[in-house]
Amino acid sequence: MLKPSVLKELKAIVGADNLSTSPEELVVYSYDATQRESLPWAVVRPVSPEEVSRILRLANQELFPVVPRGAGTGMSGGSVPVCGGVVLSFERMNSILEIDEENLLAVVEPGVVTGDLQREVEARGLFYPPDPASHKFCTLGGNVAECAGGLRAVKYGVTKDYVLGLEVVLPTGELIRTGARTVKSVAGYDLTKLIVGSEGTLGVVTKIILKLLPLPESVRTLSAFFPSADQAATAASRIMAGRIIPRALEFVDRGALRAVESHLHEDISGGAEAMLLVEVDGPADLTDREIGKIEELVQKTGASRVVRADTEKDRERIWKARRSISPALYALKPKKMNEDIVVPRSRIAEILREIGDIAKRYELMIVNFGHAGDGNIHTNIMHEAGEAAKAEKAVKEIFAAVLRLGGSISGEHGIGLSKAAYLPMELGQAALDAMQSIKRALDPKGILNPGKIFLNAECGVRNAE
Ligand code: MLT
Ligand code: ZN
Repeated sequence: MLKPSVLKELKAIVGADNLSTSPEELVVYSYDATQRESLPWAVVRPVSPEEVSRILRLANQELFPVVPRGAGTGMSGGSVPVCGGVVLSFERMNSILEIDEENLLAVVEPGVVTGDLQREVEARGLFYPPDPASHKFCTLGGNVAECAGGLRAVKYGVTKDYVLGLEVVLPTGELIRTGARTVKSVAGYDLTKLIVGSEGTLGVVTKIILKLLPLPESVRTLSAFFPSADQAATAASRIMAGRIIPRALEFVDRGALRAVESHLHEDISGGAEAMLLVEVDGPADLTDREIGKIEELVQKTGASRVVRADTEKDRERIWKARRSISPALYALKPKKMNEDIVVPRSRIAEILREIGDIAKRYELMIVNFGHAGDGNIHTNIMHEAGEAAKAEKAVKEIFAAVLRLGGSISGEHGIGLSKAAYLPMELGQAALDAMQSIKRALDPKGILNPGKIFLNAECGVRNAE
């Protein structure tokens, strides 16, 4: 709980209108897309890095947790205030400060919605490739915190590949700048890369410099339907091995297809067991050639039907279906553990078979979909409220299989709360110790986002050492 004197100080920093303590408002900031929740003690909505800095200095003095938050669309609990404290919401720091067409970059505040930036730059013939499925709601600050990936990562990479520099308030309140407005910069340690993906535990990002690309001239999209998941996964691996890098290569299994079809009241697949959704971009003669080759290849691998999205409306329709899978799954069971495992892309069929065996053994419904092009599959363990312990056991086995195949337990959603217990399986103690040393050096009192990844779910903020 916060002392009245601390609440008074917070009010003096952000203004009475930007401090919330009423239970109704606190609930809104208590959860993310994992269905985990924990009430904060207060919410503040700063408008500048100076305000953020003053809040963190106060937190160090009074020892209360501070939890940065974008739109709360995260899938690992990174913004859930599991130890209470003060949520730092970026809804007022939501301006696109600059689009520099000459240097192909944008400067944004963390609360900008990703899709808004994409639209703004596309109107000028430019392109911001990272494309999380939640692009219409998620914010760039959240994308930076989690190093979000998304649908176009297979060709264009993930958020970290587009962050040229940051303005960051350190947990102790100092403001630093990392990187530069340049493509190259090797001055000192790469603090930009350290902060991107640190899940709001090492600093609070208050400004982001993002690299832009020219908007590709043309886009071609097709969906291919298969009589088995195995054939779809094999086709995905063959496309990548066929020297074509599509800008999206998505896999959707039977369970996900049925869920989204009933969610949208639309027959998309004609009863198929699996779907691949493939998109290429570039000069028109090249994309025509590539999509033709892909069509041939999926047919050879057993596709029973291939549908080209010829108009913009067709494209939007099929992508809307893909982006709706996650919410659609809740109609299958009340609870879902949404994992984001990643394996070398040649091993997708293998991991799907292993997951199928695990599902049978535990008598659980497991639904798979996701970014087959980069080996990143969203494995959703659907279950009833009373089956969490069984689902966790299945998750542990899935992670063990992923690591055996040379993969990673998280491709894009982060560790947060949901995977903290499994991180040692992948990293080992020495690597975890190194990460915790970095955390302690930057945040000696453990103010920033305690209870998360690098702190072994420890909640108490430390007294001065
Ligand atoms: C997606 O690819 O749809 C997102 O990462 C969300 C999810 O995994 O459900
Ligand atoms: Zn995803």
